[in-house]
Amino acid sequence: MAFQFLDRAIRLPSTNTEIVQRLSGVHDEWMMTDAERATVHSMLSTLKPQVAIEVGVYRAGSLAILAAQCQKVYALDIDPFCAATYASRFPNVEFITGPSQNTLPKLIDRIQNSGEPLGFVLIDANHSEEGVRCDLDNVLRYMPQRPLYIVMHDSFNPGCRRGIKTAIWSSNPHVHMVELDFVVGRFVMQEEGNRYRQMWCGLALGVLLPEKRTGDVIMRENESLMYRTALQHSVYRFHKWWNPVYSLPLTAARMRRTAGRLLRTHAPKLFDAMKARHNKSS
Ligand SMILES: C[S@@+](CC[C@H](N)C(=O)[O-])C[C@H]1O[C@@H](n2cnc3c(N)ncnc32)[C@H](O)[C@@H]1O
Repeated sequence: MAFQFLDRAIRLPSTNTEIVQRLSGVHDEWMMTDAERATVHSMLSTLKPQVAIEVGVYRAGSLAILAAQCQKVYALDIDPFCAATYASRFPNVEFITGPSQNTLPKLIDRIQNSGEPLGFVLIDANHSEEGVRCDLDNVLRYMPQRPLYIVMHDSFNPGCRRGIKTAIWSSNPHVHMVELDFVVGRFVMQEEGNRYRQMWCGLALGVLLPEKRTGDVIMRENESLMYRTALQHSVYRFHKWWNPVYSLPLTAARMRRTAGRLLRTHAPKLFDAMKARHNKSS
């Protein structure tokens, strides 16, 4: 992460010493950009959700904001360090340690059955495509009695983005819309070493309402041009799953081979004539 001007309390530097501190590269270990910090803070201070879930705590950067703005927070992380280090600092947070693929479904069932007023979920844990999709699918078991906002970090990362896009949003009749570029992400700079040209950060937003939707889920990508342009210049540019430079020639070669086989079987004379012509010209 590049340095950020906003600190954990969403506070800009007010003295020259603070500015120098921020620029010195001392990292506050909150894994979000200024835009994301400000967005999460403004959402929470406006919505004031009574109950929230955070999946992925790390050094409690985003958790500090959640704990300050919500009555009760469930904080899930695979790393026991989180509960051991932060439990005493956040009395309104219940820490649950373990892989979220096991802990999240149980928690969602528990909240559904007890009727607790869940209003906000932040997903920022396993950043593989499968990990993101699994966390989302587990949250999507929840049938809300009030608006529920799901915020997903790293929607600018191609793997996370695919996980978000392929989650079973339509299985939950209360999902109305998903915006992949609620806050656009970062294209990592050379100064940041081995992550150069990777794509990270970005917030996606899913909106669930108590009333059921009537049509399809609205899935939007407000910054799709920015995303695709970054992708073409990124370390992911050679990945076959998206790149037409790789997938089109492969498809064309496969089609040529199939056409050749059909021709040889059903029109052998024509096949021989074409082959002779090809050999002559090459
Ligand atoms: C990017 S950090 C979270 C950053 C935090 N939300 C913030 O903004 O400061 C990701 C966290 O997810 C946790 N994590 C990774 N895989 C997980 C899994 N399968 N289940 C639960 N937590 C996981 C890691 O231990 C790490 O603490």
